[in-house]
Amino acid sequence: MNAVERIQELKAKRKAIILAHNYQPPEVQDIADYVGDSLGLSQTAASTDAEVIVFCGVDFMAESAKILSPEKKVILPDSDAMCPMSAMCTDLELAPVKERYPEAAIVAYVNTSAAVKALADVCCTSANAVRVVGKVSQERIIFVPDKNLGAYVQRFHPEKDIMLWPGHCPTHHDISVQNIMDLKRQHPRAKLMVHPECTPEVIDLADNVSSTEGMIGYAKASEAEELIVGTEVDMTHRLRKEVPGKTFIPVPGAICPNMKRTTLSSLIKALEDLSPEILLPPETIEAARKPLQRMMEIGRGD
Ligand code: 13P
Ligand code: SF4
Repeated sequence: MNAVERIQELKAKRKAIILAHNYQPPEVQDIADYVGDSLGLSQTAASTDAEVIVFCGVDFMAESAKILSPEKKVILPDSDAMCPMSAMCTDLELAPVKERYPEAAIVAYVNTSAAVKALADVCCTSANAVRVVGKVSQERIIFVPDKNLGAYVQRFHPEKDIMLWPGHCPTHHDISVQNIMDLKRQHPRAKLMVHPECTPEVIDLADNVSSTEGMIGYAKASEAEELIVGTEVDMTHRLRKEVPGKTFIPVPGAICPNMKRTTLSSLIKALEDLSPEILLPPETIEAARKPLQRMMEIGRGD
């Protein structure tokens, strides 16, 4: 029996669903029941009737699944798969800022720990951040942790005073204007899609700015035959499957090492042992669920 057959066998035995983010290695994407962006993954985790959710992604994604489906067993195959941007804002750092600005709303990007979400008024993903901020009644907003996404949202809401937390995604922040200009020179007819975690200077060069799932819709609708993909390299695997016939050009070196921690072997072990399991204090789940659910009610914006 090969690894794929073993995973299928264990998945049926455990009544499990396998969810994978668009940045997962190709062979993990190919074995998953659902592949998508943070919002789509949260929606699927909230609605599945599987008993076990095996989350091929990083810590904050699996935690969000647990918060939205607390009665289910949520497994993150490698417990070291952590998002460094999420770690750039802790609840201990955020609590005094919240106290200093009682008039402000806290908008937490879903790339945050459960403890940070528990302090927030509403969560957002890259697919709905602009829409979520538009629904917030307060003029002043503390946006955590991604300063690039926060600055992008500010472009659409000049009426808001958005305080930016000094966090960033190393994978996206390191995509330089030079990288993009080189690719544009090599592929002069290509359209450029970028993720809003990129720097403002890179965003200024883009034809489309969207979540990873939003890129699929743009690539399908666009007349362009070639598209530069300004996000993590394995997004091109999903794009090539969903939009056959077009050419997708990755940015060399745009790799999220934490997303690569899941392997077919770690997936087999996770299904065999039902471990490592995501466990959160009930009071954290309770407090974090409200801002996450508010976000889910607002839905997709791109
Ligand atoms: P998406 O929700 O757009 O897939 O982004 C998640 C993420 O971690 C981007 O770095
Ligand atoms: Fe976190 Fe960036 Fe990796 Fe996304 S790509 S999981 S934001 S480190």
